[in-house]
Amino acid sequence: MGLYSLITGRRGPSGFGSATSAEEVTQGIDATHLTAIITGGAGGIGMETARVMAKRGVHVVIGARNIGAAENAKAEILRQNTNARVTLLHLDLSSVKSIRAFVRDFHALHLPLNLLINNAGVMFCPYQLSEDEIELQFATNHIGHFLLTNLLLDTMKTTAKTSGVEGRILNLSSIAHIYTYKEGIKFDSINDICCYSDKRAYGQSKLANILHANELSRQLQEEGVNITVNSVHPGLILTNLFQHTALLMRFLKFFSFYLWKNIPQGAATTCYVALHPTLKGVTGKYFADCNEVTPSKLARDETLARKLWDFSVKLINSVSKKNYLGFEDTI
Ligand SMILES: NC(=O)c1ccc[n+]([C@@H]2O[C@H](COP(=O)([O-])OP(=O)(O)OC[C@H]3O[C@@H](n4cnc5c(N)ncnc54)[C@H](OP(=O)(O)O)[C@@H]3O)[C@@H](O)[C@H]2O)c1
Repeated sequence: MGLYSLITGRRGPSGFGSATSAEEVTQGIDATHLTAIITGGAGGIGMETARVMAKRGVHVVIGARNIGAAENAKAEILRQNTNARVTLLHLDLSSVKSIRAFVRDFHALHLPLNLLINNAGVMFCPYQLSEDEIELQFATNHIGHFLLTNLLLDTMKTTAKTSGVEGRILNLSSIAHIYTYKEGIKFDSINDICCYSDKRAYGQSKLANILHANELSRQLQEEGVNITVNSVHPGLILTNLFQHTALLMRFLKFFSFYLWKNIPQGAATTCYVALHPTLKGVTGKYFADCNEVTPSKLARDETLARKLWDFSVKLINSVSKKNYLGFEDTI
């Protein structure tokens, strides 16, 4: 799927393309037997994903740091569909403590878990450390989802085994994964302010999303677990994600309107990869415009993916030790 397909909306081998909406891509799918967690489901692409999944019958659990916004999102979803099953739980992905509390709250609901949509994200933030003292974009976009996924994995495995239904994990990455630091991931200086670039730090975190998905996919295949893991680029959609460059983006959009999608189109690739029956067994892949595409060379580097995995575990363990959270028992 190249620039021509993006501009013209021409459909690819899947039968869908850049102009396909999330509703269209899930037309006729009955997902009433599924439960999904969607991070950042209170706005933007995440909210549309939640709305469409709920429309197809999924019990949607939205993890949101702003519960007021999540309540508004839930009210809107229910206004359109009174049968929608939507549960809200507080989740701040930039905090190890909050992620662990979210997982405890989720377990207290005694729900199965078929789908995990790692959607939340921040972009182009000025240099900032999270409460765990990790650079904010890496902390939120990668480390938060890495920990969340690990803590939910046993529940997903049990659900897949007892139900016989394939589990699916999705990481929302971005085409921006190609614009990262020279070495891909700055393992030796993840928090360095001196060479911080808000754009490259975002690209680094989005590269990490793909590497994480690929390595987890490899591990689950080796274990023979019935769960797939893929990553997606949703397209260019003018959401709140651009809050740090809003003016510039509005200006650029004026000259490049043909490259942009609306939110229903932006949620299509996520919904396609999460729900479409033709993707049964497809794992460790990267999708854009509802079709499989090839990510960058760094994103396909298996050694880098394993190194990132070990690095992420060590980083989280060091935070957990500092805060007496005991992560080591759970991975
Ligand atoms: N829009 C695009 O053009 C584009 C392109 C490529 C990839 N993506 C990816 O698509 C995903 C969704 O983006 P979007 O465009 O829908 O952006 P968005 O409208 O800004 O939505 C992002 C969501 O993530 C939440 N979030 C941010 N930090 C969080 C944290 N620490 N804990 C929990 N939730 C947090 C936000 O909550 P708050 O409302 O509280 O901030 C919001 O609900 C992101 O991963 C992004 O990188 C988007």
